[in-house]
Amino acid sequence: MSMRSKSGRIVIDIKPAVKRRLYAALSLSGLSLKDWFMQTATDYSAKQLQPSLPLSTSTKQQRPSAKASTTKAFSVVSLFSGCGGMDLGFLGGFSTLKKQYHRLPFNVVWANDLNSAACKTYQANIGKEILCGDIWDFLDQLPPSTDVIIGGFPCQDISVNGKRAGVNGKRSGLYKAMVEAVKITKPKVFIAENVKALLRHQDWLNQVVGDFKGLGYNVHFQLYQAADYGVPQTRERVVFVCTAPGIPAFTPPEPEREAASWISAKEAIGDLETMDPLLTKNHIWSFANVSPEQGNRKLIANRPGYTIRAECHGNIQFHYSLPRRISMREAARLQSFPDKFVFHCGIREMERQIGNAVPPVLAWHIAKAVLTTLEASPS
Ligand SMILES: C[S@@+](CC[C@H](N)C(=O)[O-])C[C@H]1O[C@@H](n2cnc3c(N)ncnc32)[C@H](O)[C@@H]1O
Repeated sequence: MSMRSKSGRIVIDIKPAVKRRLYAALSLSGLSLKDWFMQTATDYSAKQLQPSLPLSTSTKQQRPSAKASTTKAFSVVSLFSGCGGMDLGFLGGFSTLKKQYHRLPFNVVWANDLNSAACKTYQANIGKEILCGDIWDFLDQLPPSTDVIIGGFPCQDISVNGKRAGVNGKRSGLYKAMVEAVKITKPKVFIAENVKALLRHQDWLNQVVGDFKGLGYNVHFQLYQAADYGVPQTRERVVFVCTAPGIPAFTPPEPEREAASWISAKEAIGDLETMDPLLTKNHIWSFANVSPEQGNRKLIANRPGYTIRAECHGNIQFHYSLPRRISMREAARLQSFPDKFVFHCGIREMERQIGNAVPPVLAWHIAKAVLTTLEASPS
């Protein structure tokens, strides 16, 4: 029941049991009651205004699946989809950092991730169903065939910041689920992404390459510097592009830029310097103190940002001129997400989803090169 207080405010009377559940849910999400209310009200009004469109869709940004029904689209199975950074790159049809990345003829037909908050972000922004849970429990639901599989398998066991159990660790060993998915769906091409540290461990690298080759695929892998492709961040990642027998060899995309013309942090986020915090735009930041171990780096205005990490526990890099850490929207910009891509979760989850993502702009360049390979293939 609701009524008006003497001051004119609307007062909502909630049963104590409901109130307890609400506060428990809020403490899990990391949101305050006011933030949650604002987010829910914004989501609700967006749905009322644009009932058939995902929250993130603007007139400028095409809905990712818009062209898929009119041109031949290559079907994509997305593993370890996270919030959808890599998927957005494959779909295209977005603009970021004053540039338009046109729609590509890929259509995500199946997606999965373990993390329910990431699934929520994925569904709201990519506009596709995603199966939420452990990939090993979903392999039997994969389609019998697909053109492409994409997946950035978890990197914590490989990463220099992780515990280093390697490719047989609980999480990074999940590339083996990708191997199983390839056996089931027999794609023309599959693409796997991971951290640079994988290249430093010859035994881990040999195992992954050996398992991919063992499927009968040709394996191309190389290290990509995201800044070379127009991402305002120095982020190096290894990407494997594996082609089935009979599919032409993959030619990686040419870099667009050299170090002298990398997009700087100020170019990417300078316009947000005067913006007040705003949850609905994810322009909120961590107040974590300077940590003795990590996260004390300060952006340099005329250079790209440093690698955005997923598990930084609030210790994300500091702004180049303001006395605070960068906001989640600024981190998303440094990862080349469009502003219309909204993260519907608490700040720690936003950090995780943004830091985990393949920058959509880097993924778009790789997707375009994969498309060239597919289009040159005998049908
Ligand atoms: C590196 S992130 C992928 C990011 C994604 N490619 C993107 O561009 O946004 C790895 C993802 O694997 C997911 N993951 C970890 N263990 C999993 C499991 N057992 N089954 C399914 N997904 C899992 C994590 O939740 C995380 O989102």
